[in-house]
Amino acid sequence: MLIRRPPDISPSEITPRSAYLRRRDVLAGGLGLAALAMLPTKKAEAAPLAATKSPYSTDEPATRREDATTYNNFYEFGTDKGDPAANAHMLKTSPWSVKIDGLVAKPATYTLEDILKPVTLEERIYRLRCVEGWSMVIPWIGFPLADLLKRVEPLGAARYVAFETLVRPEEMPAQRGLFQPLPWPYLEGLRLDEAMHPLAILATGMYGETLPNQNGAPLRLVVPWKYGFKSIKSIVRISLVEKQPPTTWQSSQESEYGFYSNVNPEVDHPRWSQATERRIGEGSGLFAKRRPTLMFNGYGEHVAQLYSGMDLRANY
Ligand code: MTE
Repeated sequence: MLIRRPPDISPSEITPRSAYLRRRDVLAGGLGLAALAMLPTKKAEAAPLAATKSPYSTDEPATRREDATTYNNFYEFGTDKGDPAANAHMLKTSPWSVKIDGLVAKPATYTLEDILKPVTLEERIYRLRCVEGWSMVIPWIGFPLADLLKRVEPLGAARYVAFETLVRPEEMPAQRGLFQPLPWPYLEGLRLDEAMHPLAILATGMYGETLPNQNGAPLRLVVPWKYGFKSIKSIVRISLVEKQPPTTWQSSQESEYGFYSNVNPEVDHPRWSQATERRIGEGSGLFAKRRPTLMFNGYGEHVAQLYSGMDLRANY
């Protein structure tokens, strides 16, 4: 889904983790705290999370953790699949807060701890189908987005939910370069009834641990029946609004990316077919096995009624 490409960064230009940690130690001794504060922060270690099993999980085998955490889209850290894993350690995820505003009776700015206190975490093993033609199966840990929205009491006039990722150029390299792959902040949106659907979750972990930064720590959306770009990462603001909100990919390339972006093998992307997909881990290049893409990514029995009577070609 790349629109424009930055000049390539060769792997030799990326500082290995061991080297930058060593450099921090040397500088801490020699230059003092001011210099240290300018260096990338140490990567947060993933912590184990307890979660109950969910009846919504697929029984397909999960993608290898190694693949799901090194083959990512998170353009704030660069446009190559390896960039998020190489660069996202710079993101400081604690303290973290999320502002919830707009058409709600109880607007609030919640800390991550406030958000998580009353929720029961569940493991949801979901298929994720990227618009680029590949897919993964990921054991997320999260809770229904509806649980959080109910706490702020949406008003009758609220019809859509808008989401926003943070803007922090000092920690997100692609937000400060000469070349900016997208306009920031990264924006996404759902219709309110989609957002209230029990399959839509906010994830805070995967593979039994807290989310790695490259996968959207500390809090990201997961909407399994839509193309992956709807699942916005590292959320800092959620607004309930009356009109359909702008979204990053739709604003960037409206003819290619619609607001709904439901997985649909019958509606091709203007530049490629969406009929089949490559499951990450099932061979690569010429040897990659392709499997048929399923309507609503296989979640039709749960979500098809949200769109009854709608022309899914016009509302792509
Ligand atoms: N969220 C933000 N803030 N920035 C991004 O570039 N990329 C999206 C989505 N969320 C993106 C984002 C795309 S295109 C996909 S396919 C998924 O994240 C990928 O999630 P994953 O890397 O955890 O598999």
